[in-house]
Amino acid sequence: MTFNILISDPLSEEGIKPLRDAENVSITVETKLTPEELLDCIDQYDALLVRSQTQVTKEVLEKGTRLKVVGRAGVGVDNIDLDAATEHGVIVVNAPDGNTNSAAEHTIAMLMSLARNIPQAHYAIKQHRWDRKSYVGVELKGKTFGIIGLGRIGAEVAYRAKGQRLNVIAFDPYLTEEKAEKMGIQYATLDEVLEKADFITVHTPLLKQTKHLINKEAFAKMKTGVQIINCARGGIIDEEALYDAIVQKKVAGAALDVFEEEPIKNFKLIELPEVIATPHLGASTVEAQENVAIDVSHDVINILNGGVAKNP
Ligand code: NAD
Ligand code: MLT
Repeated sequence: MTFNILISDPLSEEGIKPLRDAENVSITVETKLTPEELLDCIDQYDALLVRSQTQVTKEVLEKGTRLKVVGRAGVGVDNIDLDAATEHGVIVVNAPDGNTNSAAEHTIAMLMSLARNIPQAHYAIKQHRWDRKSYVGVELKGKTFGIIGLGRIGAEVAYRAKGQRLNVIAFDPYLTEEKAEKMGIQYATLDEVLEKADFITVHTPLLKQTKHLINKEAFAKMKTGVQIINCARGGIIDEEALYDAIVQKKVAGAALDVFEEEPIKNFKLIELPEVIATPHLGASTVEAQENVAIDVSHDVINILNGGVAKNP
């Protein structure tokens, strides 16, 4: 029996080698399908492999009558309707470990860029402007760095931030004082992070409970001049509230890799000079893309052949 697999987002060619090497699969790579085109063809496939671009909606899962598994080459499964997948008996697997380092490194790169206005200064000098006055930054050493969500990526960010001699405080419902102490950081409540931090970075999943976790009320509790980083998921920070907080000079800067709508259509927030941004590049390294594609490819083959997944 041959299993048909559709890859609908760009995945590392090296990473999907396990799929290409498998004897009983036929692979189709179509990374520019419209939602309608996906609905039209999905009934031909036993497995669908995606990154964050393809929206695996209720309709896709309904029409995918042959689908046995959806593989997400990455962590966040918020682009997949999990309830509909369960309803239709489709297994969803992700690759939670492979891009942790890359996402943590990107967060630190954003932190350093934010503190020293590197993207703004780079843009000015490329335009032949030698401007040293407009881009005075702040040191990180001795500042309080608040992490909200101390899972895989949050913890790696904490280790790296300590190397910058930041005082790291963190809130996570599963963090204990003992664990924080072992990591050499300080346990805090959400309000303590909001009130004490000079820099705040979020690393939670996007869930009902974390949607707009950083909203107007949260910004009101923060120090004036706080700087914000989001390399987790668009929607954890209320973008409208962030815009207002920047315009009102409550927030001095924001570094954003993820957005409520991707690709961005409304550039109002991004156009503020205090905002630096990248187009969801946290996991975009050769290593991470290879890792996640390998992990998810193995899981998909196992499931199609009646085995079990490492990350169901
Ligand atoms: P994880 O599951 O290991 O960690 C998430 C942590 O958030 C957990 O410890 C959990 O207890 C905590 N959490 C949940 N609800 C919370 C709340 N209300 N307040 C505080 N903490 C809460 O996930 P991870 O692998 O560390 O990924 C973190 C985020 O980064 C996810 O949103 C993921 O999709 C995203 N991500 C983005 C990129 C990118 O390209 N920018 C790359 C990888 C991952
Ligand atoms: C993830 O959740 O793993 C990230 O969004 C990375 C990605 O797939 O782009």
